[in-house]
Amino acid sequence: MRSGGAVDSNVTYLSRLDEGVISEIGGNADHPMRKVTRQVAFDPGGWTLERASKVTKLFDEMALTWKDKDFNSRVLPVLDAVARGGIKPAGIGIELGCGTGAYSSMLSAYFDTLLCVDISFEMLANSTSPESFRIRGDGSNLPFPDNSVDGLVCINTLLFPAEVDRILKSSGYLVWVSSSGNQTPIYLSPDDVCDALGGKFVGVSSEAGPGTWSVFHRR
Ligand SMILES: C[S@@+](CC[C@H](N)C(=O)[O-])C[C@H]1O[C@@H](n2cnc3c(N)ncnc32)[C@H](O)[C@@H]1O
Repeated sequence: MRSGGAVDSNVTYLSRLDEGVISEIGGNADHPMRKVTRQVAFDPGGWTLERASKVTKLFDEMALTWKDKDFNSRVLPVLDAVARGGIKPAGIGIELGCGTGAYSSMLSAYFDTLLCVDISFEMLANSTSPESFRIRGDGSNLPFPDNSVDGLVCINTLLFPAEVDRILKSSGYLVWVSSSGNQTPIYLSPDDVCDALGGKFVGVSSEAGPGTWSVFHRR
């Protein structure tokens, strides 16, 4: 990972402020979700009904135990993204792929309204943030109008570039967090995210705790 304020063509990499934490969870380049993540991000036809059904089943089955994961250090990249990502917290926020809501209560403090979306009913049903507004929905076809969202937060979930571009206001931003950095099973590097967004966005990125974060604004 580049650091030290290095400027890539579309992503500016900030130095990390802490000493880092070694991730203890698995996930690597061979993880089956890596292929899905890349295909969905780079191929508009990559998200099929069959794939949606398989992914939903996979996460439905993991929902009961998902909330027992240790999220303590994994909030660090989110906090750093908010502190240094050039975000003006307010307005309408969407947390896509919210899972069991480990980050939802924290994120709700940054928006006037936060809507938490997930394709897995079981994830939503087992939420540890039961006060959050939870919506069962598919990130490839979100139930929100064009240009209506101030901030879209994606933590360890899939990227659907066309929907990012469609729902975000001109001043809107995408927060992309991989809570175990490049060990995260559903992972795209900041440059990959930028490329998948088709050159319409520029980003700032860094590392915190065991994870990485990026915030993208429109050019
Ligand atoms: C790896 S989990 C991450 C959950 C949570 N963000 C976290 O970090 O604990 C990925 C989540 O994305 C959801 N997801 C996968 N594909 C989705 C889609 N097309 N639309 C909405 N949610 C999706 C899954 O159901 C799952 O809850």
